[in-house]
Amino acid sequence: MELREAIKGRRSIRKYKPDPVPKEVIEELFEYALWAPSGMNRQNWYFVVVTGKMRDEVVKICERAYREYIGRKVEKVFSHKPDVVKETKSFFATLGGAPVVILAYAIPGPESEKTDIQSVSAAIQNLLLLAHEKGLGTCWMTGPISHADEFSKLLGIKDKNFVALITLGYPDETPKAPKRKPDRVRYIGFDES
Ligand SMILES: Cc1cc2nc3c(=O)[nH]c(=O)nc-3n(C[C@H](O)[C@H](O)[C@H](O)COP(=O)(O)O)c2cc1C
Repeated sequence: MELREAIKGRRSIRKYKPDPVPKEVIEELFEYALWAPSGMNRQNWYFVVVTGKMRDEVVKICERAYREYIGRKVEKVFSHKPDVVKETKSFFATLGGAPVVILAYAIPGPESEKTDIQSVSAAIQNLLLLAHEKGLGTCWMTGPISHADEFSKLLGIKDKNFVALITLGYPDETPKAPKRKPDRVRYIGFDES
């Protein structure tokens, strides 16, 4: 798949087929995703790839994150769109049946927290595009961040900052692409003769 096609064709997937994703396929995604740039070349990312019973425990925490924290915000922002609220609530409770969840962490270092997050995010975006190229779907989620400590406890993670949760599996939907907003790039100096 051509790069531009992958960039435009990738969608956030919130409904998955139950088919498992072979470990070798995920390993290949990471082999390339981790070629992302990183602040001071620290490569400060740390990913935990979860399937099976532990995946079910992760989903339970996401359900609680919606109920105890993010749900209130979603209901406020989308008060005029009850369907979006219903779908979001259901997605947090099931993660759309995604057979794999990936928890992305930043290993803290001498840089600012912002640099740490940006480096991990660069690797996440690579991962999303590579997954799409392989016919896999993903959804990048920061909604569950409120319950970062619970994930860390469950997975035995210490001294790392939770950045995002990513669902992974074979898509069982083909969402429409949301329109992209205009006027978000400004060019300066190009008209000078
Ligand atoms: C930093 C970040 C956080 C996100 N958090 C969530 C989330 O918590 N739940 C969710 O359903 N989607 C989440 N998304 C997905 C966005 O809703 C999605 O990218 C956006 O609606 C555009 O749709 P597209 O990815 O199909 O182009 C997140 C995306 C990003 C980049």
